[in-house]
Amino acid sequence: MKIAILPGDGIGPEIIKQAVDVLRALNVGAELIEAQIGGAGYEKFGDPLPDSTLDLAIKSDAVLLGAVGDWKYDALPREKRPERGLLRIRKELNLFANLRPATLYPELAGASSLKPEIVSNLDIMIVRELTGDIYFGQPRGIHENENGEREGINTMRYSESEIKRIAHVAFQIAMKRSKKLCSVDKANVLETTELWRQVMMDISKEYPEVELTHMYVDNAAMQLIKNPKQFDVLVTGNIFGDILSDEASMLTGSIGMLPSASLDSNNKGMYEPSHGSAPDIAGKNIANPLATILSLAMMFRYTFNDEKNANKIESAVKKALSQGFRTVDIYSVGDKKVSCSEMGEAVIASLN
Ligand code: IPM
Ligand code: MG
Repeated sequence: MKIAILPGDGIGPEIIKQAVDVLRALNVGAELIEAQIGGAGYEKFGDPLPDSTLDLAIKSDAVLLGAVGDWKYDALPREKRPERGLLRIRKELNLFANLRPATLYPELAGASSLKPEIVSNLDIMIVRELTGDIYFGQPRGIHENENGEREGINTMRYSESEIKRIAHVAFQIAMKRSKKLCSVDKANVLETTELWRQVMMDISKEYPEVELTHMYVDNAAMQLIKNPKQFDVLVTGNIFGDILSDEASMLTGSIGMLPSASLDSNNKGMYEPSHGSAPDIAGKNIANPLATILSLAMMFRYTFNDEKNANKIESAVKKALSQGFRTVDIYSVGDKKVSCSEMGEAVIASLN
């Protein structure tokens, strides 16, 4: 197995180091090759997705990514900014299926801003379409309109085949879980998502065991706070999924705990924590590496079809938590406060 390691910016290198140490400790004979993306790519090659990095990613079985972005790049033209590197690698690798679990660890129940009874045992999977929608739709840009004033344009669009392939991913995940799927749209206003709803209903005929429901995105945003445990698997488009997955992450109290997987149609994938690059705490060795380590577990599960090592990593994380180890983002009085690297070591020590 060949794995591209893309640490990126901010806390990326620190958290990736911990995940790589876990990977090495598993002794699976993986070939690891490191390359630059985001601001790091811009610094070295003048491009947030250098050709050499893209080429490496294409030739690898999986990609482990830290995070991209730093305020110091805000003034750069859009195509040079770190985020563009991330969007391009998703598109170039055809990673259309983004899986974002929101799981509450019992040890961290107090970390959520919601009442414990609302969130205890929460376990939601958000399936976000990642390579279409208003993120990529043409036309786009800022130009002068016929009245001589500036106008910004983005285009929300989805083709039937794009909706179908994400529908299949979502139904298959629902089949492995509680067989409940909620599709989120804005079909009362937006034609793009009216088509989304129709296609979801068509595909549901191939999965008669799965109970498909539909919800408007505004209501879904409310229901996630009101009664999140009504959901199991959610499927939605790129922009709604971006927003709802951040919202869902906070139900668990810490975005520092949440992994993600972005898959193509052959289960090749890119794995990254759901959080960002947190430049304000970069280099301080205080970031939480668990989301990245848990992303590695997802890599074993989805790309390498290796449930054993996936479970091994997840159990080690649970064990480290149950021993009271906490990075500062999940710390409360009485816990053992540890640094990023100490948390990584605690996980490795718990592997066996
Ligand atoms: C995410 C991020 C990205 C997105 C940004 C950094 C481009 O918010 O992965 O959710 O909007 O998809
Ligand atoms: Mg986001």
